[in-house]
Amino acid sequence: MEAKRLRKPGFREARRFDKRLMHLGKGLVMAQGSAPRRLVAGNWKMNGLSRSLVEVRALKSALAARALSTTIAVCPPATLLHQVSLELKGTPILVGGQDCHPEATGPFTGDISAEMLADAGASLVILGHSERRHGLHESDELIARKVSGAQRAGLVSILCIGETEAERDGGRTLDVVGRQITYSLPQAMDAGALVIAYEPVWAIGTGRVPSNSDIESVHGFVRERLKKRFGGDGADIAILYGGSVKPSNAGEILKLKEVGGALVGGASLKATDFLQIIDAA
Ligand code: 13P
Repeated sequence: MEAKRLRKPGFREARRFDKRLMHLGKGLVMAQGSAPRRLVAGNWKMNGLSRSLVEVRALKSALAARALSTTIAVCPPATLLHQVSLELKGTPILVGGQDCHPEATGPFTGDISAEMLADAGASLVILGHSERRHGLHESDELIARKVSGAQRAGLVSILCIGETEAERDGGRTLDVVGRQITYSLPQAMDAGALVIAYEPVWAIGTGRVPSNSDIESVHGFVRERLKKRFGGDGADIAILYGGSVKPSNAGEILKLKEVGGALVGGASLKATDFLQIIDAA
C-alpha cells in the first residue's frame, strides 16, 4: 500500500537514487583492492543554522584538493539536509539524516520518513543513537523498524550501539552490545545497507575514551556477531568508533584493529577539526 502510494512524482527519482545507493552501500564497505574503505561521518546533532553552510563549503573545497581513500559523510539537522546536499552535489561527500520514522508516510506530526530524507538528498541515516535510546527511550524493536524503513527507502543505516557507564562497570558491555545488534536489526537486512557505530554512552561528549584494548575487544566481538548473522558479508560491514573522537586522538583510534572509521560529534562542527580527523583516517 505504502509503496503504491509512493508511485507518484518523486518515485522515479527515488528508484534512480536507489541504484546509486546500492552502489554507495557497497562502495562504503567493500574492499578497494584489498584495503577496506573507511567511513568518517560527522553527526552535527541539534547544531547548525544556515550560516553553518560555510563549514560545508570549507570542507568541500579542502577535500576537492585531496585524493580521498576514505568515505566522508556529513549528517546535519533535518532542516539543513537539503541545503547541505545541494552544496555537496557532484562531490563524493555523502549526506545523512540523524533519525527517521519507520513508516514512509502518515499521520505522524513532526516526524520525518526515510523516503523524505532520501528525497532531501540523504544516502545514509544514523539510527539508535544513545541520545535517542536513552534520552527518548527508543527500544531495540522500534530501532529495528526504523532500520527497516531506511532500507526500504534505499538508505544505508549507521546503527549505533553502546553501553552506559553503569553497564560497563557491571561488566555487561558485551551483553549489551550483543543484544543491541540482535534486536535493533530487522529480520530482512541487507549487509550492504548497514554500518555499525560503537559509541560507549559514557564517552560521548565527555572527553573520555575507552582504552585501545577495550575498543579492540568490543569491535572484535561485534565483528564476530556480524559474521554469525551475515556470513561472509559480515566481514565487510564497517564498524565505526564514536565518542570524543578529536583531532588529537583520531590517528591512534583509527589504527586499531576492526575500527573501520569514526562517527564524530562535536569535532565535526568545525571543518578544520573534521578535516584533521579525515586526514588521520
Ligand atoms: P562526540 O564526538 O561529541 O563525543 O559525540 C559522539 C557522538 O555521539 C557521535 O554520534
